Amino acid sequence: MSQDETLLELMKHRWTARKFKDKEVSEEDLEKILEAGRWAPSGGNKQPWELVIIKDKDIKNKVAEIYSDAMGMKNISKRYTTPSILIAVCIDKRIVDSYPENMPAEFIIYASIGAMVQNMSLMAAQLDLVISWGTQPKSAQRELQELLELPDHIDIPDILQVGYPAQERYSSDRREVEEFTHHDKIDEDKLREI
Ligand SMILES: Cc1cc2nc3c(=O)[nH]c(=O)nc-3n(C[C@H](O)[C@H](O)[C@H](O)COP(=O)(O)O)c2cc1C
Repeated sequence: MSQDETLLELMKHRWTARKFKDKEVSEEDLEKILEAGRWAPSGGNKQPWELVIIKDKDIKNKVAEIYSDAMGMKNISKRYTTPSILIAVCIDKRIVDSYPENMPAEFIIYASIGAMVQNMSLMAAQLDLVISWGTQPKSAQRELQELLELPDHIDIPDILQVGYPAQERYSSDRREVEEFTHHDKIDEDKLREI
């Protein structure tokens, strides 16, 4: 297999589980995952992320409670209680001001976070682990900040679940390349009804 094929296979191997086993992720694997995240690109190389690694059962339970309440759903709390590790992805909002005024700072920050999480997710996939995104509702922010003792200027857009999947992989399809690529100019006929 060529290196390109290996990389593509790994990308396809990564997926989002929503049920996790109560099985510990080793410290060694966690370190590999974090090291992969560390090498992500970021706008201006500002590395705008702060990660809170959560292993404590009580804190996980509280995260699950806050999330379930904010979403108004009770049956989703296991997503935050059973995975071995949660990673709260935090952003110091003050970093927005460090970009030139004419630049789309929020875009740069969130795109950088995306690159970082993808790096970690690919490393997890290589280790036969799963990292799933858990976007946090705006109404959960205050309680999450209090729980993790974060100052007001730290936001938690996402809490990742890291662990061993407890469900069969489902199929998740993608648009074909030709559906979303345009040549030289946008082809309006290809744009989707949204
Ligand atoms: C920025 C971002 C936020 C996401 N937030 C959630 C989420 O809150 N809950 C969830 O179940 N999945 C979330 N996902 C996972 C997507 O639903 C998933 O990646 C998509 O359905 C494709 O499935 P796959 O990852 O298994 O290929 C998120 C993914 C991204 C990139």
